[in-house]
Amino acid sequence: MRGVVMAAIAPVAAVPARGLPRRASSRFPRGSPRVRLAPAPHRTSSLRDRVGTRYPSSEVRTRRFAAASDAPTAPDAAPDAGPDAAPAPAPARLDLEGDELVLVVGGAGRVGARVVRRLASAGARCRVLTRDPSSKAATALRDACPPGTVELARGDVTEPGPKGDAALAAALLGCTHVVACFGAQRISKIGDVLGLGAPETNDVTHPAAVNFRGVARLATAAANAGTVRRFVRVTGMSVGYHPADPIAVLLNAVLSMTIKWQLRGERAVRECGVPYTVVRPGNLLDTPRPRGSVVLVGHGDAKVPAGKVSRDDVAEVISVATFAKNCQNATVGVAGAPAPTGGIASQMAWDPARGMHYVAVEHEESVREGDDVAAMLEGVEADVGELRDRRHFPFVAAFVAALFGAATLATAGLVAAARALLKL
Ligand SMILES: NC(=O)c1ccc[n+]([C@@H]2O[C@H](COP(=O)([O-])OP(=O)(O)OC[C@H]3O[C@@H](n4cnc5c(N)ncnc54)[C@H](OP(=O)(O)O)[C@@H]3O)[C@@H](O)[C@H]2O)c1
Repeated sequence: MRGVVMAAIAPVAAVPARGLPRRASSRFPRGSPRVRLAPAPHRTSSLRDRVGTRYPSSEVRTRRFAAASDAPTAPDAAPDAGPDAAPAPAPARLDLEGDELVLVVGGAGRVGARVVRRLASAGARCRVLTRDPSSKAATALRDACPPGTVELARGDVTEPGPKGDAALAAALLGCTHVVACFGAQRISKIGDVLGLGAPETNDVTHPAAVNFRGVARLATAAANAGTVRRFVRVTGMSVGYHPADPIAVLLNAVLSMTIKWQLRGERAVRECGVPYTVVRPGNLLDTPRPRGSVVLVGHGDAKVPAGKVSRDDVAEVISVATFAKNCQNATVGVAGAPAPTGGIASQMAWDPARGMHYVAVEHEESVREGDDVAAMLEGVEADVGELRDRRHFPFVAAFVAALFGAATLATAGLVAAARALLKL
């Protein structure tokens, strides 16, 4: 939960989050959730007074979670890490017991492969579940890891019936951990809106089939296996956002209601009975973390802005959190920011008087930033309370209707203008 600490800065004008100071504020607009503010001596003057000034204490958070500057380079650092990439921190020690066999579903994907490389180099055995074990990505991954650490298995979480269940059960045999690092990437079709062809039930590429039913099937199979100690699910940052949040609305509208189905998938994971960890990344970058940028880690229902974050950092969060005791039954958000934020972010807001505008908000106390993700993860706490389902569709419908209305008005205006011109 967070609170708005500053009124509108400028209507629909981006406010750079960096450089803004933190402050104490007692002005919470009616209905807005309050921020839990940690005691801090610098939160004494008004944010309005300081907008535009550099916040000298932005290191407060980063210093706490900075990796040692003389740390050795990670052995599996991306080969294309150039001068713009931040130096890779030393890999953190994973809390392994020695008998680990981790099923990584989606392990041949871009995040999954990084997780597999990281776990294998730390001494954990991995089984990669892929729909095509003969693919170049899957075989290259196995060949790049220490011999005997990675095996490939065929499976598709959307495959129904006894055959699909048997494939999942076989893949889970002897597994101690599951990392479910897969998801649907389906662009919405006009038929979805018109209810043609029931894609939610008939299309195996739909988020309903992959992010919800596929995840639920895998989680049930993991519970039935009887050997799984942790089920880790990777979803997305905006799963925790209010359904009216502009980012959630846009993603739902464009990607076949993906946020709605990711949320249901998370609920299925919580209900399966196996201890879980949910990792919600922001917008994923394929490049290493840019020099000067920071990683933000939050837990529970703390809102972390869904800024771009390197897949390397997300893989590190997944790898550490999978075995960290404090991350059991916890939800971890991970995102990035191009520079230290000073504890402040800007976000879009709407009210009838000002329309769409940006407000500056203070990160919640449980959101940390820096470049040492393992240290930041030490502050993660278990989830409190149940994860409730939310109604996403009304907001998407309102958005689509508004778009349609705006397009109609614009067309009518153009036609009127053309007529007026022709009469001249
Ligand atoms: N892109 C973003 O900005 C973003 C942001 C936040 C969260 N995420 C989440 O993070 C996840 C990982 O991202 P990524 O970049 O690694 O994605 P990716 O490279 O597209 O990999 C996703 C993997 O999912 C697997 N998969 C898809 N459908 C499957 C099915 N029915 N059964 C089994 N496996 C299936 C695929 O494995 P095979 O083809 O080998 O079977 C694929 O390798 C995404 O799936 C998404 O849910 C993405």
